[in-house]
Amino acid sequence: MFQDGKVFLGKAGEEKVVLLPQMANRHGLIAGATGTGKTVTLKVMAESFSESGVPVFLADVKGDLSGMVLPGSESERVKQSMDSMGLREEGFTFRGFPTEFWDVYAKEGLPLRTTITEMGPLLLARILELNETQEGVLDIVFRIADEEGLLLLDTKDMRSMLQYAGEHAQEYSAKYGNIPKQSIGAIQRKLLQLETDGGDLFFGEPALDVRDWIRTDPATGFGIINVLDCRMLALHPTMYSTYLLWMLSELYETLPEVGDLDRPKLVFFFDEAHLLFDSASKPLKEKISQVVKLIRSKGVGVYFITQTPSDIPDDVLAQLGNKVQHALHAYTPAEQKSIKSAAASFRANPAFNTAEALQSLGIGEALVSCLDDQGIPAVVRKTRILPPESQMGVLDEAVRAAKIAGSALNTKYSDSVDRDSAYEFLERKNLEAEAEKQRAQENAARAKEQAVQAKAEAARKARAEAASAKEEERERTRREKQRKSAVRSVASSTAGSIGREIGKSVGSKFGSAGKTIGGNLGASLARGILKTLFKS
Ligand SMILES: Nc1ncnc2c1ncn2[C@@H]1O[C@H](COP(=O)(O)OP(=O)(O)OP(=O)(O)O)[C@@H](O)[C@H]1O
Ligand SMILES: [Mg+2]
Repeated sequence: MFQDGKVFLGKAGEEKVVLLPQMANRHGLIAGATGTGKTVTLKVMAESFSESGVPVFLADVKGDLSGMVLPGSESERVKQSMDSMGLREEGFTFRGFPTEFWDVYAKEGLPLRTTITEMGPLLLARILELNETQEGVLDIVFRIADEEGLLLLDTKDMRSMLQYAGEHAQEYSAKYGNIPKQSIGAIQRKLLQLETDGGDLFFGEPALDVRDWIRTDPATGFGIINVLDCRMLALHPTMYSTYLLWMLSELYETLPEVGDLDRPKLVFFFDEAHLLFDSASKPLKEKISQVVKLIRSKGVGVYFITQTPSDIPDDVLAQLGNKVQHALHAYTPAEQKSIKSAAASFRANPAFNTAEALQSLGIGEALVSCLDDQGIPAVVRKTRILPPESQMGVLDEAVRAAKIAGSALNTKYSDSVDRDSAYEFLERKNLEAEAEKQRAQENAARAKEQAVQAKAEAARKARAEAASAKEEERERTRREKQRKSAVRSVASSTAGSIGREIGKSVGSKFGSAGKTIGGNLGASLARGILKTLFKS
């Protein structure tokens, strides 16, 4: 309930216990053992902020925050609270609140995505649970992508980029340092694991514009309650806590500096907050502490919900000004220690012993201390927390589905868009390189083929020339021979006929004896004449 410009939390005796909206950005803590009433306190705060026109973000780990969209009902316990606190007279009414559902897995709400680039190497390294060397390599890969102007939107882009960095490790190592192949391989395997766990759904576009969380319902002026369904996500604690941390840093980076306002711009409730700090590296813890510190001046209040305050590092805890501590139980020495330190963190109330009170609180009761208008923590008070006005427990799936389908943001976020980015660019580059290689191979093969053909042609030509030269030679010889034989036959027939004529005539002169003599004699005479012919 929002009353007299204040967040009405409950009653200590007859006195109202309130949280001042102008101090709401000084952050807060809701702690307590399981089943003591933390979720109800969170709902009571969220309802009140919404009523005051302040939008809210809730990480819903058990699904029991989804009921906020519907009015609550009067159970026995609720009736008792209403009666004992005189809430009917205070204007308490059962009502639903304007709610927007979100889900990283895109099932129980509008898809909540971001890009790899926006997530950045530090947080991505945490999601992938990389060691220090691998984290260093991931950082280099981001720098290379930056240098090459390549967009890293989804896990496909990241995978291509890792492969590219691995293949060009030598070129880049002079500038950025060693890029070991094993580290690239290890990151690729972890990325695959993330994809198998469905974590790839978180990366892509349209990316969340955190300003869409900062809206009010036009009909009522109530702040929208953004419920992120984390039932699946919380099964992967590192992913859960890192995504939430990313959301905080995104809020920090997106929102303008506003200083102190009369009420916050947004209140962010971080359930199961111990998951954020468990196994967080020192630099990451420092970053969380820094974000929490700085986001205050952007008008964002962050409320951590966890079992004991000792789940939260001291420098973060020291920044949480508004505290609601439900019952704690001390069965072990460690638990006794954490009760002592939880009690010590409150400004003591002379009316009771804080540590003892902490252990005797009933369900729906808490020790509460909020900052006063000077920013000083109020004396701690034993407080009965209000019941919620909205429905407790999980929302019916059909109601949720109808709510998601009817959301004004549905068309903006429901369909994912795969924009041209590193993966597509590098794929094209690979295809081009492949085509170029193919072309070069074809050209080389063609050149070889041409060379073989040219050689064969040259050989054929040489053979043909040789053959024709031989043929010519043969022809020439033949002609020569012919000519010679022609001359010879002319000569011989001439000589023969002359000789014969002479021989005839001579022979005839000498009768038959003369023929014989005449024949031989004529022939030898003719040879003598021919010799002189040829000489001339
Ligand atoms: N302020 C309250 N008014 C009326 N009933 C309450 C109140 N607080 C708690 N309850 C009752 O106690 C139950 C458990 O409370 P709640 O779910 O808030 O505990 P929790 O601390 O969040 O537990 P867990 O650690 O398991 O999440 C509620 O379902 C409700 O019935
Ligand atoms: Mg709870």
